[in-house]
Amino acid sequence: MKKALFLVLALVMVFTVTAASAKDVVVAFSQIGQESDWRTANTDDLKSAIENHPGWKLVYDDAQQKQENQIKALRNFITQGVDYILFTGVVTTGWDEVLKEVNEAEIPLLLIDRMPDCKDKIEYVAAFGGDFVEEGRRQVAWAGEYLKSVGRGDEDVNIVIMEGTTGAGAQVDRTKGNLEALKKYPHLKLVGQQSGNFTRAEGQAVMESWLKSLDKIDVLIAQNDDMALGAIDAIKAAGKVPGKDIIIVGCDSVKAAFDAIVAGEMNCTVECTPLYSRFVVPTIEKLEQGEKFSKEIVHPEEGVYDTNGGIDLGTVKSTKAADVISTRQY
Ligand code: AHR
Repeated sequence: MKKALFLVLALVMVFTVTAASAKDVVVAFSQIGQESDWRTANTDDLKSAIENHPGWKLVYDDAQQKQENQIKALRNFITQGVDYILFTGVVTTGWDEVLKEVNEAEIPLLLIDRMPDCKDKIEYVAAFGGDFVEEGRRQVAWAGEYLKSVGRGDEDVNIVIMEGTTGAGAQVDRTKGNLEALKKYPHLKLVGQQSGNFTRAEGQAVMESWLKSLDKIDVLIAQNDDMALGAIDAIKAAGKVPGKDIIIVGCDSVKAAFDAIVAGEMNCTVECTPLYSRFVVPTIEKLEQGEKFSKEIVHPEEGVYDTNGGIDLGTVKSTKAADVISTRQY
């Protein structure tokens, strides 16, 4: 009798567990790769928020920087019949066909970080990403205003722009913003512009070659902090003092950049937050309740952090990195 009761209870439990997991909300995330500290923070933030959410299940794919891997992952998500897809594209172009397939499968698509250039031709339920053009403007404006603040506003200075992965939204738009802002500072002479692929190793290699081929570099604008940190290693190896002989402006505001600023080896980092779970999770919760969202891109509010603070960029004033380093989450 006891045995029979145990069997019935076990069957009920198996049935309950199966039924519950059959109802799990499956959120699939197609991530670009692991090129930078920013990307690691972005992956960790979204993965842990989704995995720890009651009743949700994460399906994750790391495309290792390859568009073809992302396309394959998206098609796999469709075949699996996931409930939501989170997507950021390694480059801006070439997504039309596969994202239309996602639309045809009626899987709600959430765009994060780098937007595809076909976004006006497809359906998506929400979009959250950095304002890359503004970040690029802020980088150059910071350098121009900083030079003015130390009495070097009329001096001709040589500036180099280290770009991110060619064709990535963050590279295309930050370059646009960098070049736009340069027009306002005629004393900043652009003497080098090359991709460092958003990685520390390539940032170091590009700076090594610039230091050999260019007569003088006064300011480095690196489109992410990892490349700036790689460049710092190259500058030190060449016997120069980073942060003094060469003014260094990064982007992202990762912890290692804060450390470099506090150590005096880097001058400024323009924030681009990787923490999107605070937008994505409530959005999916509301979508589950039947709420609709507009196709507007939400840009989180972002700061600019530097050695001393107080540089006025019009849209934002810089904050002294040392004052807020202990509050940073990534
Ligand atoms: O798309 C965001 C950019 O991608 C970050 O600035 C960079 O560090 C990352 O690799």
